[in-house]
Amino acid sequence: MEKLTGLKKIKTAVFISGTGSNLKNIIKFSKIKKSPISINLIISNTCLAKGLKYAEQFKIKKKIFNFKDYNKAEKKILILLKKEKIEFICLAGYMKILSAGFIKKFGKKIINIHPSLLPKYKGLNTHSRAIKNKDKLAGCTVHYVAAKLDSGKIILQKKVKISARDNPASLKKKVLKQEHKLYPAAIMKIFN
Ligand code: GRF
Repeated sequence: MEKLTGLKKIKTAVFISGTGSNLKNIIKFSKIKKSPISINLIISNTCLAKGLKYAEQFKIKKKIFNFKDYNKAEKKILILLKKEKIEFICLAGYMKILSAGFIKKFGKKIINIHPSLLPKYKGLNTHSRAIKNKDKLAGCTVHYVAAKLDSGKIILQKKVKISARDNPASLKKKVLKQEHKLYPAAIMKIFN
C-alpha cells in the first residue's frame, strides 16, 4: 500500500500487449485524488508493445516476459507481483490468456476491458463481426477475469451506436473513446 495524500491506494499492475491507450488513461486516472488505485507495475508479453513507453513517461516499473514457456512465464509474473505487493490487476489489451492456475494463485481481483457488449462477441475482431451482422449497437465491457475467456462477471458496460457509415476502424475509435470513460468508472464501482 502506498501513502498518498493520507489515503492508502491499492497497488495495481496493468498488463498490456499493444498501443496502451487504456493504460495511459488508467495511469492518469490513478493520479487523481479520488482514485482508489495507484499504478505500480506494467507487464507485457512483448517488447513491441507501444504502450511500454508510458512506463518511462510516468516513471513506472515495467517488465517484459517471454512466453515461449507459458507456465514458466506465469510463475515468474506471480513472483514479481508478490515482490511488488500488487493487490489488483487490470488487463488492458493484453493478448495472452491467464491460466486458471494463475488466477487462483494470484487470489485477488483481476479485471479486463473488452470491446463488445459481452456476452456478444467474445474473442477477437469484435467490431468487424458487429458490422457484418448489421448490429445497431456496439460497445465495451469491463468484467472480472475468470478461467473461461471473456466470461467473468460483468462490472459495467457502455453502448455505442453503429452508423451506416461505420467501418471497423471508425467503430474501434468510437468504442475506444468510451472505453477510456468506462475503465475508471468500473474501478470506482469496485472499490467504493
Ligand atoms: C481495446 O480495444 C480493449 O478493449 C481490448 O484491446 C484494446 C486495447 O487498446 N482489450 P489499447 O492498447 O488500450 O489502446
